[in-house]
Amino acid sequence: MAMECVASARKAESIGKKFTIKGWVRTRRDSKGGFSFLEINDGSSFGNLQVIANNTLQNYQTDILKIGTGCSVVIEGVIKGSPAKGQETELVADSVQVVGWADPNTYTMQKKGHTFEYLRTQAHLRPRTNTFGAVARVRNQISKSIHDFFQEKGFLYINTPIITPSDCEGAGHMFRVTTLDFLNPKTIAKAEDDFFGKPVFLTVSGQLEGETYACALGKIYTFGPTFRAENSNTSRHLAEFWMVEPEVAFNDLIQNMDLAESFIKRIIRDALNQCGEDMQFFEERIEKGLIQNLELVLNKDFQRISYTEAVEILKNSGQTFEFEVAWGKDLQSEHERYLAEKHFNGPVILYDYPKEIKAFYMRLNDDGKTVRAMDVLVPRIGEIIGGSQREERLEILEARMQGAGLKPEDYWWYLDLRRFGGVPHAGFGLGLERCVQFITGMANIRDVIPYPRTPGSADF
Ligand code: 4AD
Ligand code: MG
Repeated sequence: MAMECVASARKAESIGKKFTIKGWVRTRRDSKGGFSFLEINDGSSFGNLQVIANNTLQNYQTDILKIGTGCSVVIEGVIKGSPAKGQETELVADSVQVVGWADPNTYTMQKKGHTFEYLRTQAHLRPRTNTFGAVARVRNQISKSIHDFFQEKGFLYINTPIITPSDCEGAGHMFRVTTLDFLNPKTIAKAEDDFFGKPVFLTVSGQLEGETYACALGKIYTFGPTFRAENSNTSRHLAEFWMVEPEVAFNDLIQNMDLAESFIKRIIRDALNQCGEDMQFFEERIEKGLIQNLELVLNKDFQRISYTEAVEILKNSGQTFEFEVAWGKDLQSEHERYLAEKHFNGPVILYDYPKEIKAFYMRLNDDGKTVRAMDVLVPRIGEIIGGSQREERLEILEARMQGAGLKPEDYWWYLDLRRFGGVPHAGFGLGLERCVQFITGMANIRDVIPYPRTPGSADF
């Protein structure tokens, strides 16, 4: 049986069928002809269902003429072909029941044209707007594509811990998790007295634990919340975000790049095919040229160049950058965007970065200076994926850990993967929110996650 929702009621094949629609009123218009139009949305599609409520309905005067934006309703009726432009169907109501009223004097989603900044203060109601409904549906589709892509390829979905003693990225940007009361001066805050008997943190990545499963089961992916206590107040950083991390045993960096490229293309293709109306809205109202640019990405091989080549391109670009470009320095978002937007006009994969600016677990190249890292850069976003081939050689890995200030004995279990049946392996991480930004054209990462957490802000 077809679901009785706005999405299915709007399809021509529903004409003649009886429907019960449960949703929220977007607008009411009264016609001189003795009936009212209600625009109903229930989240199932971008477009609303137009409902015709005749003045012969028994609660027309008492209820229907008082219905305003935001009221919740249950409406029964029959779907008819619609004479109006831009819609195939409409519902002629046999009954309209108001379930919850919304006072027009105090309901904040009444008015159109609120800024995204204002809507962040109304994060509990913003999913009732066109934009945030569309973002939620596209985000959902992306999550589905992520699972579909890996499941179809035989990857196992692995859940890695959220509370962990290890610092995967070795960057120290971690949130401490504690039950000690540091506001009480009488408590001597010793790590041994804490809940786990040692310092633990919110995970910055599931990679290290993911590697243990890849080195037993071959192909795995993790997909979960990730936390970074970086004080980066940018339109592309969150303190809590979602990351997908595939890891594949016996893969090298080139195979890792191939996987990343087909993965991104699959996500784009699904969004364009499955979220047509939402994508059309983003194209028209958020980012002109979005769909064409995404199609371009689909039909083009990603460029692949080394970090060293990228530095040369940037130095010779004739551009003035805020941050200096020099071999050995990390690339800033302005550099990444120049490469993807201006120089290549499309996605580009940079590889073989200086070891000093990358994590300890990346495989050292024979030059002794660079590691088998890769970043996928895309227009408007910059880095969307970061990954690498992992260091599988025990002694080199131990030395790299020491260099990074980590104690190898704390990571004995990780090193065991190199002691027993070690294999070359590789993986990467895709930031879900950056991906949603890329697909939707939304400029600020705070607007592609329901409840953003950023420095100084954790409301709702
Ligand atoms: O490049 P990152 O730090 O890589 C890792 O965490 C590896 N352990 C991944 C792996 O090899 N398994 O992060 C991966 C991606 C980035 O490319 C970016 O898309 C996203 O995660 N990301 C963030 N997204 C939002 N806010 C932040 N603060 C982010 N930091 C990273
Ligand atoms: Mg990175």
